[in-house]
Amino acid sequence: MPVRVIVGCQWGDEGKGKVVDYFSEDADVVVRFQGGANAGHTVITESGDFVLHLLPSGILRAEKKCVIADGIVIDPEQLIKEIIFLRDMGVSVKGRLFISGKAHLVFPYHKYYDKYLEKLRKGKAIGTTGRGIGPAYTDRVARCGIRAYDLFDEELLKAKLDDNLKLKRSLSPDLNQVEEFGLKYNFDWINRFKEGMMDFIKDTSKILQNALVSGDSVLFEGAQGMMLDVDYGTYPYTTSSNTVSGGIPVNCGLAPFIPDETIGIVKAYTTRVGEGPFPTELNDEMGDILRKRGREFGATTGRPRRCGWLDFVALKYALKINGVNSIAMTKIDVLDGIERILICDGYRYKGKLIREFPNNINIIEECKPHYIEVSGWESETSSLLEFEDLPQNAKEYIDIIENTLEVPVSHISTGPFRHQMIKKCK
Ligand code: IMP
Repeated sequence: MPVRVIVGCQWGDEGKGKVVDYFSEDADVVVRFQGGANAGHTVITESGDFVLHLLPSGILRAEKKCVIADGIVIDPEQLIKEIIFLRDMGVSVKGRLFISGKAHLVFPYHKYYDKYLEKLRKGKAIGTTGRGIGPAYTDRVARCGIRAYDLFDEELLKAKLDDNLKLKRSLSPDLNQVEEFGLKYNFDWINRFKEGMMDFIKDTSKILQNALVSGDSVLFEGAQGMMLDVDYGTYPYTTSSNTVSGGIPVNCGLAPFIPDETIGIVKAYTTRVGEGPFPTELNDEMGDILRKRGREFGATTGRPRRCGWLDFVALKYALKINGVNSIAMTKIDVLDGIERILICDGYRYKGKLIREFPNNINIIEECKPHYIEVSGWESETSSLLEFEDLPQNAKEYIDIIENTLEVPVSHISTGPFRHQMIKKCK
């Protein structure tokens, strides 16, 4: 399978780490193309549990090449932390990690400003991860950002930092006394991490172009989820990058291409962290059950995730925009033992039933879910390895998903471990 794309189809936390790890077994190159250390991809291997924020999940397989592409915003401190953590766990990244020189860097002032803006938003906070993502992408489009290539020229780096910080302090005078907005603080900080990064900085666009030309198997690993896309998600309650598959060429320096397979990861129910509309959210005991059984606490911030039923309206929209041609369903085991399972097949809005995901956030905020009810299953699914062995009602749940979404479910994950994956024939 030369080119495969894996994207989350909900509001993130669909279980991308595990699924990417599974598919990276037959990839030569694994690529992160957007986002930054706001992601938290959990992978459990025989050697231990790993939560990766920046490095592609393929890094855990020794022979794979991994690329942090142009579209990423890199927190150097987090990057070095991950490289050291992996080294201590016996995983070397030398010679197989490639970081784009065009990728932008996240500095302490970005992280400070992220939290500062959230406070100013008062009742309208986005609920960001506080990892400086929005401010770093803002600098990118404002053309004052600092890129990985800038690390190679110390004087230029210092001058760019100085200009940038002066501009920011003049726009917000109350930041004048904040140490994270001082030149020395940021310059000393980057000097602590830059040596550890520089060997990895390359022209990743060329590396990926060559990989595609030579027929290497390349896997593009999405972060966050489709509904957090800055343009197509529930804006402004989104992240600041394009999480959709269409963002891959531009964020990797590649000509547009049609992947051989686009896998959409769909959790068997829905979760969301941070603020913003979530039509199927459960603010009741069932929400608590899903949170507890699914261990739904953020891998990056530890925040409890909001939980709710599956939402076909949002999913249909997500699958279309991403061109998904097969679904990997995760966490079906979390639904074991739940007597009645609801699935949202439409929204009620001002007395009307709508089946298309609204473009306007004001409408989404007022939508109430319309549910169909299906019977749950008693027995545990976590030890099952064959689709045929799943309880009848679990098979029916998957049938309904395939028939309604008109996309086959090709894989079903029944737990966090590598072997807990059912491959379903298409
Ligand atoms: P930011 O990306 O930190 O700016 O956060 C913007 C929104 O995206 C917030 O609601 C976050 O909770 C959410 N978000 C960012 N990264 C992730 C992720 O990896 N999983 C789930 N939600 C995320």
